[in-house]
Amino acid sequence: MATSAAGAVVILGSGLIGRSWAMLFASGGFEVKLYDIEQQQITNALENIKKEMKLLEQSGSLKGALNMEQQLSLISGCSHLGKAVEGAIHIQECVPENLELKKKIFAQLDRIVDDTVILSSSSSCLLPSKLFAGLTHVKQCIVAHPVNPPYYVPLVELIPHPETAPATMDKTHALMKKIGQSPVRLLREIDGFALNRLQYAIISEAWRLVEGGILSPNDLDLVMSDGLGMRYAFIGPLETMHLNAEGMVNYCDRYSEGMKRVLKTFGPIPEFSGATVEKVNQAMCRKVPDDPGHLAARRQWRDDCLMRLAKLKSQRATQ
Ligand code: NAI
Repeated sequence: MATSAAGAVVILGSGLIGRSWAMLFASGGFEVKLYDIEQQQITNALENIKKEMKLLEQSGSLKGALNMEQQLSLISGCSHLGKAVEGAIHIQECVPENLELKKKIFAQLDRIVDDTVILSSSSSCLLPSKLFAGLTHVKQCIVAHPVNPPYYVPLVELIPHPETAPATMDKTHALMKKIGQSPVRLLREIDGFALNRLQYAIISEAWRLVEGGILSPNDLDLVMSDGLGMRYAFIGPLETMHLNAEGMVNYCDRYSEGMKRVLKTFGPIPEFSGATVEKVNQAMCRKVPDDPGHLAARRQWRDDCLMRLAKLKSQRATQ
């Protein structure tokens, strides 16, 4: 394994998300140590990463300035936690989403790390105040929540514990930029962080529209994939407002009354159960049968689309 001037990063948990982080950090020139309690998981992860990187190189989508061999040489497995974290600048925890398990791991790390390494969790929805409560090194702790698949979807939400040092946020932000990700700072924790709050707002209204018999499930999905989603891959909802009138102030002048009128008609939180689940499930299964083979093939297709979109976005950014 090669060492790197950029420094060493530890990935704790070598499942789906751990593997992606490993590839991203290697693309940024970091030495990556993959740790897991299951030795077989580490072996599988290293094989899987090699296979993925070959495909990425063949399709010209490998990230970073280093070639595949150089990136692979930066990644190694490690089954001893103490040895793995020695000299690391950043530890990215990626174990299953279970508060007690994650708390146990951070307590373990708290006992063996120095005062400089960043302790970062990939948690999708556990609040930093719960995850890092009572740790001696709480100033160095942060949630860095990626979006699946992180190799193609660059957003990372950074969420601090109330006692996280501003320098921890700054260092993690800079590190994420260095590996080509797109970090956003939440200034304080909130349930669902930002991405899932937006996602759940959309899912709620989608559900109400289908439940109310206004649109079929497939037409509802088209509203996003062939409508709003087309723009949102390039500009967010606020910039959309700015561009869809003569600037933001003009948009609010023109449309705020209409927005408020429509928003008042939104219904209560759906139950996501009963006849509507049946109806939506039938429509989805007609399109993509829910056996493992069809689901995996459709995910592969989605990831391929995302890879092409990521390429297009990076070309646009350099123009
Ligand atoms: P996964 O189940 O694929 O992988 C978890 C890995 O952790 C396994 O390899 C397991 O052997 C290992 N592990 C379990 N206990 C451990 C311990 N005590 N020490 C070290 N390793 C241990 O899980 P996945 O999907 O990679 O998720 C990891 C984290 O990332 C979760 O917090 C999840 O919420 C978050 N996340 C997941 C996303 C997804 O779409 N899968 C998206 C964004 C975040």
